[in-house]
Amino acid sequence: MNHNQEGLQDTGRTASNKLMVETSKTVKVLAPATVANLVCGFDVLGMCLEDPNDLMEVRLLDEKKIIIHSADGYPLPSDPMQNTAGAPLVEMINELDNNTGFEVIIHKKIKPGSGIGSSAASAAGAVVAANHLLGNIFTNTDLVRFAMFGEKVASGVKHADNIAPCIYGGITLIRSIHPLDIVPIPSPDLFVTIVHPQIEVRTKDARQILRKEVLLKDAIRQWGNIAGLVAGFMQNDTALIGRSLEDVIIEPVRSILIPGFDEVKRRCKEAGALGGGISGSGPSIFMLSTERETAVRVEAVMKEIYNSIGLDYNTYVTTINKTGVKIIND
Ligand code: HSE
Repeated sequence: MNHNQEGLQDTGRTASNKLMVETSKTVKVLAPATVANLVCGFDVLGMCLEDPNDLMEVRLLDEKKIIIHSADGYPLPSDPMQNTAGAPLVEMINELDNNTGFEVIIHKKIKPGSGIGSSAASAAGAVVAANHLLGNIFTNTDLVRFAMFGEKVASGVKHADNIAPCIYGGITLIRSIHPLDIVPIPSPDLFVTIVHPQIEVRTKDARQILRKEVLLKDAIRQWGNIAGLVAGFMQNDTALIGRSLEDVIIEPVRSILIPGFDEVKRRCKEAGALGGGISGSGPSIFMLSTERETAVRVEAVMKEIYNSIGLDYNTYVTTINKTGVKIIND
C-alpha cells in the first residue's frame, strides 16, 4: 500500500485523522455534487458543491466482498465491478491483506447523467466512508486513485476532475493522472447557480463526439484561459475569473447537445453572473456569481428560458463546498 505517492501533499482528512481509531462498524456520508472542467479546464479542473449530495451508508464486513444496494429505486448495477461505488471498493480491498469487505447503501440524490458528478459522488463517498471504517489508512491520493475506477465504469476512461474536488473539497487542479498530481486551489466565496435540463447526456457519448486534434491557436487561447482562471481563484480576482471562463475547444462541440445553451449563457451574464458554461459533460449548466441575489436572479433567468422551451429542469443555488465528502454520524 502506498501512503504517499510521488511526494504529494496530502492536505486532506488523512493527515488530521491518521491516529483515529474507528470503533463503529458503519458510517454515513454525504457525497457532494461537483462541477468538472470549469469551462476551459477539460479534465484538469473541478469544483465541489454544497448541494446536492448523495447519502451513503457503508458497513464493514469480515469477508472479502462488496455488496451494493440502491435505497431509492434507481436501477444501479448490483455487480460491484459494474457499479461506480463498487469498482473502487474492489480495488481498495484487493490492497488489504485481510478478509475485509463493505456493504454499501446508496440514496441517490444526484441524478446519473446530469453532469454534476453523480458517478464521482458514489465513488468518492464509498472510498472515503470505507477508509474511515479502516481507520484512515489510505491517503487522499490513494482514495482518488481507487475512485477513478468508478469513473472508468461510468465513462470508459479514468478522469479525476469530479473525484478530486469531491474528496478534497474546494477547487482542485489535476495536473496529471499518470502519476496522480492533485493541486488544491484556494476557493473564493462565490455562489453557484446550476440548471439541470431533464435530458440525459452520457459522458461516454459526450467524449466520443470531441475532435481528437486541436489547432495551435485554440490551444494557446485555452491554456491562457486555464492559467487566468487559476490565477483569478488564487488572487480572488473575480473579473479575471469572469473573462477566463471561456472554452474554445470543447464547448462549441458539446453545447449542441444542450437545448437553450447559448441563450442561458448570454442572458445569465446579462443578469450579472461572472460567467459559466457546461457542467462536466452536461446537460447541466453552471454560472458563478459574487452575490447571492445575483445567483438567484440567474436562477430565475434559467427557469424562464426552460419554461419557454418547454423542457423540465431542476435548479440549485449553492456555494463551493470546501471540505468534500462529509462523515455525518461520528
Ligand atoms: N472531464 C469530464 C468530461 C467530466 O468533460 O468528459 C465528466 O463529468
